Parts: sequence; C-alpha cells; structure tokens
Amino acid sequence: MIRPSGEISRRDAIRVGLGVGLAITIDRLDLFAASPQQATLIEKAIPSSGEKIPVIGMGTARYFDAVTPELREVIKRFPELGGKVIDMAPSYGSAESVVGDIIAELNARPRYFLATKVTGPGSDRESGARQLEESMRRLHTDKIDLMQIHNLIGVDQRLPLIREWKQAGRFRYIGATTSFARQYDAFEKLMREQTLDFIQIDYSIDARAVEQRILPLAADRGMAVLVNSPFRRGRTFERVQGKLLPAWAAELEVTTWAQLFLKYLAAHPSVTCVIPGTERVQFLVDNMVATHGRLPDAELRKRIERYYDGLTA
Ligand SMILES: NC(=O)c1ccc[n+]([C@@H]2O[C@H](COP(=O)([O-])OP(=O)(O)OC[C@H]3O[C@@H](n4cnc5c(N)ncnc54)[C@H](OP(=O)(O)O)[C@@H]3O)[C@@H](O)[C@H]2O)c1
Repeated sequence: MIRPSGEISRRDAIRVGLGVGLAITIDRLDLFAASPQQATLIEKAIPSSGEKIPVIGMGTARYFDAVTPELREVIKRFPELGGKVIDMAPSYGSAESVVGDIIAELNARPRYFLATKVTGPGSDRESGARQLEESMRRLHTDKIDLMQIHNLIGVDQRLPLIREWKQAGRFRYIGATTSFARQYDAFEKLMREQTLDFIQIDYSIDARAVEQRILPLAADRGMAVLVNSPFRRGRTFERVQGKLLPAWAAELEVTTWAQLFLKYLAAHPSVTCVIPGTERVQFLVDNMVATHGRLPDAELRKRIERYYDGLTA
C-alpha cells in the first residue's frame, strides 16, 4: 500500500523482495515499518574523485558460469535494490560475459559501476593488454569503471599499463587487490609507493588483521577500499548458526546476521564498499538491506565485535 508520504508498507516491501515486481525504486521503500524514518540509501565517497557509491555492492567469484534465469534476476534487481558496484575478474568463470550480456540485454549500463581485474596466467604487459581488450569486449563497454591488478600478479608491468589506459579514458579508476595475508607486506609497500584510486582487501568480523595497518594506510593515502570475502566465503556464519540476533541489533534496522556483518564492515571509516558474493536472489535481497538505514558508530561496532567474539560455534 502506498501511503500519503509516498512510502509503502512493509508487506509490500517484502513482496518486492520476493519478486512480485512492484515497479518502484528502493529509495521509496519503507523497509522498516517499525522505524519512523524512511529507509535511506547509504553511500560513501571515493576519495580521489568525491563520487559517491552505495556501501554494499556484489561479488561474482565462482558462481557466474552461464546466464540463468536466477542470475538475470540477480543482476537486474541489484540496482533496483540500491546497488551499483559489481566486482568481477577474467578468472571468475564466465562472470564478465554473464554480467556484460545481461546488462546489454537490459540496456542499463549507466546503472552499474563495473569493477574487474587483470589477472594470470602470464604476468607480462602484452598478456595484460590482451586481457584488457577481452574484458572490454565481454562487458560490452568502451569504459570500465575500475580496473584492478589481481593479487599483485605482474604489478610492475601491468600498473603502468592500466595507468596509460586510465589516461586514455578507458578506465575511470585503477586499483589493486589481495585476499592473502602473506601478500600484505608487499601490498602495503605498493600502497605507499603508488597512487591508486582503490584497494580491495579481505575483511570480515572474524578476520580483522587489515585493521592494523592496511585500512589506516588507505585513509592516509586517500584510497577507496572495497572489502572482499566479507563472510569468509560463508565461514563467518558458522559461529552464529541457530543463534538469534541480540535485541540491540534492532537499533541498526537489521534482521539477519548477514545484514549485521555487512553494516559492521561498511561502517569502518576507511571502507568505501563491501562486495558480498552471491548468485541467489534471496541473499541479494538480504544483503542489499544493509545499504539502507544507518550504520553503527564506533561504540556500537565494538559492541558487535565483543558479542561475536564471545560466541562459540
Ligand atoms: N583477491 C581478490 O581479488 C578477491 C578474493 C576473494 C574475493 N574477491 C571478490 O569478493 C567477492 C566476495 O567474496 P567471496 O564471494 O569469495 O566470499 P563471501 O562474500 O565472503 O561469501 C560468499 C558466501 O556467502 C554466502 N552468502 C552470501 N550472502 C549471504 C547471505 N545473505 N546469507 C547467508 N549466506 C550468504 C554465499 O552463498 P551462496 O554461494 O549460496 O550464494 C557464499 O557461499 C567475490 O565474489 C569476489 O568478487 C576478490
């Protein structure tokens, strides 16, 4: 039901979540009937440009092998639910082709912030250049929003290459990724020595090592941070299996552990956008709730940490 204020009821919001297909945008959804405030999109600025992006995006590792009805729905619904950043890589099966084909089919390129990577095999400049052309072709675009060096592969040859392509207007931003603690020292050195728009790093409530040096360094160096593996590929949920959320989580307008974890990560002052991976509409809808409402302050983040640390699997 549309109320005079333009909000809709929680029941309708849930129906939208289940795909009944009301043609309304998420910023008009009153997702939380209990809250007097209308749900609002939470965005953060990319330090190098000031451009704002929603704090929850999505990842595509492992799942995107072919265009299926569910993946089509996931990609279509993502911006409707407030998302923009999709992270891919040439090594993630057919992720670039699947995402590129669906967006082309929808004729909706401007609604997405496409992030992909230059990766192995091969670490030289020539194999890198071939991959960049391929990514452009698969994504059906002449401009990729963010090109990242994947796991520091061939960084000495490829970073100058992607910088040149950025200068030529083919990428809007450049960056580098890792999810391996053994690469952190080399990653920090790269962050200190190079100018990058973005870094992408693994961070979750049960793996917080990057809080020590990498996240503060990103803030010092003016680099945006994408958070990968926010659920440690699902392992973060083991400790909360069968456990109810604490009552005080209601303050954050969250109803699931996934939403609580995502808001916890997105609230870190250095973090710009968290990219949980999923292929399912149900999880997408769940995760995107976390890009609305409010984020925890420093005190509430500590409380979430203490609560999680005190749980046993
Ligand atoms: N070095 C790098 O550059 C690097 C490394 C790792 C990841 N990444 C990027 O980061 C993205 C995220 O990491 P990830 O996919 O490895 O792991 P993740 O996001 O930590 O976890 C994905 C797992 O969580 C499950 N899940 C998602 N949403 C859920 C929800 N609301 N409730 C319960 N379970 C949920 C998924 O289930 P289903 O499988 O059932 O959907 C999947 O098993 C990747 O997709 C990729 O784009 C980059």
